[in-house]
Amino acid sequence: MTVVAGPRNPSLAESLADLLDSEVVRPEVRRFPDGEAYVRVEADLGGEPVCLVQSTPSDRAWIELLLLQDAVASWSPDRLAVVVPYLGYARQDRRFEPGEALSAKVLVSTIGDAADALVTVDPHEDHVPQLGSVTARVVSATPAIGRALADRDVDLVLAPDAAAVGLAEAVADEIGADADHLDKTRVSDDDVRIEPKTLDVEGRRAAIVDDIVSTGGTMSRAAEALIDQGAAAVLAATVHGVFAEDALDRLDKAGVDEVLATDTIESDRSEVGVASVLAPAVRRILG
Ligand code: R5P
Repeated sequence: MTVVAGPRNPSLAESLADLLDSEVVRPEVRRFPDGEAYVRVEADLGGEPVCLVQSTPSDRAWIELLLLQDAVASWSPDRLAVVVPYLGYARQDRRFEPGEALSAKVLVSTIGDAADALVTVDPHEDHVPQLGSVTARVVSATPAIGRALADRDVDLVLAPDAAAVGLAEAVADEIGADADHLDKTRVSDDDVRIEPKTLDVEGRRAAIVDDIVSTGGTMSRAAEALIDQGAAAVLAATVHGVFAEDALDRLDKAGVDEVLATDTIESDRSEVGVASVLAPAVRRILG
């Protein structure tokens, strides 16, 4: 088996290859002066099972993925698993308003003409990877996040809203911690109260867990509420650290003690590795 490391996930691809006992191929990916991408995979992958790894946190990353798929397919691999640890554009998974582009479907449909399976980690909604024609496998980073939080003595895991409850409960289960979610109550026209639905956070080491941190607005509001209510420490943990604009500054100003993200999007905060949850899925597909 060969792992082709797209430019967005060099470390994750390396860790995955180690676990799969595979070679790593690093394709050539560069830009022409006008910004267009050039991609070449030099290694002969003919007849090989191949795992291509590339997250899509930006338009440029999507284009790279499309070109990488084509370059890999040109060698006629035996089987191809396309691993997209962070599947971008997943939040536009419906036409919320008439006339909107159904971005998630448009982009997921571009994956896999030549692939046997798409593998992704905690997509924004479970149905998104199924919007294309390729067989999709979803894995969860919750065991990896749980291990990281257990090392930090977290005893309460909170979702910042009802939508993230499943994720927070799964992480809490991993470490035997309590789980809850924050609830927003309108007190008056210009005042809302954000507090845990049922549990008291006073004196506890709490982690807020969400699938994505983009601008950091959701996390920082949640952190401020927990600090107001006397939490001893507040950690912000996310599967996909998009960290748009000044998200990390916002989290810092909100009083978050530590920000943890997985390496689905590699950055200086992505210290939670997801190779261990991806490897079994890739092995099942490629043998
Ligand atoms: C929303 O549906 C997601 O689960 C996240 O809560 C959201 O994407 C976070 O965005 P931001 O960091 O911009 O508040």
